[in-house]
Amino acid sequence: MRQGGIFAAGAAFLIVAGAFVLAVTPASFAQAKELAPLDTKGDASIRPWKRYDKWPKRDESKFNTLAKISSPPAPKEPRKLSGPIKGDAANGAKLVSNRKRGGSCLACHVMGPAGGANLPGNVGPDLSEIGNANLTDEFLFNYIYDARVYNPETVMPPWGSHGLFNDQEISDMVAFLKTLKSPAVFKTALDNPEKRPAPVEKRANLDPMENPGMWAIDKAKELWSKVGSTGKSCASCHGNPAMQFKAWASSLPKWEPRLNKVLGVEEFITRHARATTGAEYLMETDDNRVLSVYLHNLAEGVPITVDVSNAAAKAAYKRGEVLANRKLGQLNFACTDCHGKSANHWIRGQWLGTLKGQYDHFPTWRTSQLVIWDIRQRFQWCQVNIRADELPPDAKEYGDLELYLAAQNDGLKENVPGIRH
Ligand code: HEC
Ligand code: HEC
Ligand code: HEC
Repeated sequence: MRQGGIFAAGAAFLIVAGAFVLAVTPASFAQAKELAPLDTKGDASIRPWKRYDKWPKRDESKFNTLAKISSPPAPKEPRKLSGPIKGDAANGAKLVSNRKRGGSCLACHVMGPAGGANLPGNVGPDLSEIGNANLTDEFLFNYIYDARVYNPETVMPPWGSHGLFNDQEISDMVAFLKTLKSPAVFKTALDNPEKRPAPVEKRANLDPMENPGMWAIDKAKELWSKVGSTGKSCASCHGNPAMQFKAWASSLPKWEPRLNKVLGVEEFITRHARATTGAEYLMETDDNRVLSVYLHNLAEGVPITVDVSNAAAKAAYKRGEVLANRKLGQLNFACTDCHGKSANHWIRGQWLGTLKGQYDHFPTWRTSQLVIWDIRQRFQWCQVNIRADELPPDAKEYGDLELYLAAQNDGLKENVPGIRH
């Protein structure tokens, strides 16, 4: 992180005193330069925001998002049962492995026969012998219904109180759990999350033979000299971008007083282009993404160094930290549940990484999607995936969250475009 004091003071002085300062600039102000023009009025992404066509459509309006708190409160006490549970264990076995039910139980637990060849995860304990543990029906029912009554810090979703399973279905799963009395048998070593090797990224991001995302750089170079409605192109005002913007992207996102929010590279592109060339490069459109890849690529190898030294940036960082810890959506996960508490574990077949290491390669080519995703789209998907409504990419909450995330990645070197599954 760097101290922004001298630069900020210099810039403010420049604005006040205008051209006069240029003639008598004292040595300490030598770094001060003109502020980049920005459109500060319109939105930087489409409104109303519309979820991507291929993404699941559900009504999650009842639940917390990064912009609002609305999930139903956690129950204070376990529910009392009227008698022993009567459930259908065979149906329970199907439910625990049903991926369509919020990823279901095998996402985090090995469960005897149901877990055999399903790439179960290991965020939670192996429950293959839970039937020997003499747990009461009431405890098991309530642990599944809403585990927060026993453990307020749990990462297990409140399956019952958030409406993912009804009482009968929970009873069926209780009946199934009670049949689990012997260690899991795995068909292959890979099925065992304790033996499955953690993925190692071996591909070279900047090798065009390996990373199809490299095409973005050629495309961006074309856009660089494309004349917009003002008769200007990026090239009209900027000589050699490789010299001028050698480190710039590594210092973003940053607090931007003119917008009263944290500004990332992609939103900068939209607002700066509008104010200069007149081009409309809305966030999460192809042209915006390729320019972002290009500007990040110019900073290749430069350590990420975001400025959280001034009071406004510090406050934004704090807000970002709170948001990263907020429980979101029907599945009731915080970003840090997966990328903090449960990091370095498997959630089904997916490895959970820490927040550090999730940022330095963005925007990134996604081999599973055959497109480039910028960081805001990844934020959106991590919300949709946990059944929370996403926000438009230019939402101020994403700015705060991105600043927090970037600060966790401080010191890691820019390496864009990335290539990931
Ligand atoms: C996101 C991961 C996750 C998912 C998904 C999940 N669990 Fe859990 N579960 C945990 C963790 C972690 C624990 C350990 C205790 C805790 O943290 O609450 C746990 C504990 C339990 C326990 C208590 C075990 C004991 O010995 O006290 C039961 C029962 C249980 N889970 C059942 C289920 C069932 C049934 C499902 C599917 C409907 C499920 N879990 C889905 C993470 C998960
Ligand atoms: C009309 C002139 C003009 C045009 C056209 C223009 N810029 Fe700029 N740009 C500026 C000025 C002035 C600055 C601030 C001083 C500096 O960094 O050179 C700036 C700064 C920048 C910065 C650094 C931002 C910062 O905060 O220091 C980037 C990156 C940038 N421009 C990219 C672009 C791109 C991409 C385009 C084309 C879409 C473009 N510029 C078009 C004038 C222009
Ligand atoms: C239920 C668990 C879960 C939650 C909650 C979650 N993520 Fe993720 N996240 C994942 C998984 C799984 C991946 C993909 C890992 C892979 O592709 O192998 C991922 C990937 C990412 C990546 C990109 C990693 C890369 O290298 O391409 C970022 C950035 C990220 N998450 C940020 C967030 C943020 C911010 C939040 C909170 C809004 C969040 N995640 C919430 C599970 C989660």
